[in-house]
Amino acid sequence: MASNAKRTRLLRTVAVTLGLLGLLSCAAVAQKGLLDERDPVSERQQLMKNQGANFKDLRDKAKAGNFAAIAVNAQNIAFAARHIPLLFPKGSLGTPEQKSRAKPEIWQDWDGFIAATTQTRDAALALWELTKDAEKQPVSAEQVQAAIKNLAESCKGCHDKFRKPKEQQ
Ligand code: HEC
Repeated sequence: MASNAKRTRLLRTVAVTLGLLGLLSCAAVAQKGLLDERDPVSERQQLMKNQGANFKDLRDKAKAGNFAAIAVNAQNIAFAARHIPLLFPKGSLGTPEQKSRAKPEIWQDWDGFIAATTQTRDAALALWELTKDAEKQPVSAEQVQAAIKNLAESCKGCHDKFRKPKEQQ
């Protein structure tokens, strides 16, 4: 029976240690405002920065004629676009420090907002489809440029309607 007690004590120590490690890693994540369910505003700002970085990257690759390398950026944008609605819980306008540029219109026209995310997702998927086999099946620069323009317009479409201009933060 003594060994049972020992084992129980050992298990408890392990559980407590794991619990502490879990807390520590949560705190680290929360600090960055990344993947923090309690802070959808920071998370969506990070997601959007990431969309912007992927977009810049794919535009540079297009300029360099490196079409096959664009597929991964298009895929990232498509995946992220699916998550946009989750990061806009009703009325989440953030704290003054977060300087959220979300407009209240998002929740007044939720269907329009969802449609805008779908447009970006579909435009990114089309670009992915076009470039994913570009090494084996060459595509023209015009085709790639047209698909990128379409994607850029989808981002702008949502921003024009649902994002405040910078000075109004
Ligand atoms: C469905 C609407 C919607 C779509 C689609 C969308 N955005 Fe945004 N974006 C927003 C909103 C709203 C904000 C402001 C978020 C906030 O501050 O709370 C934003 C913010 C941004 C920011 C600023 C992030 C920051 O805080 O510094 C960038 C960059 C950005 N978007 C890039 C893009 C790109 C690139 C695309 C297309 C690939 C895109 N967005 C598609 C709605 C959208």
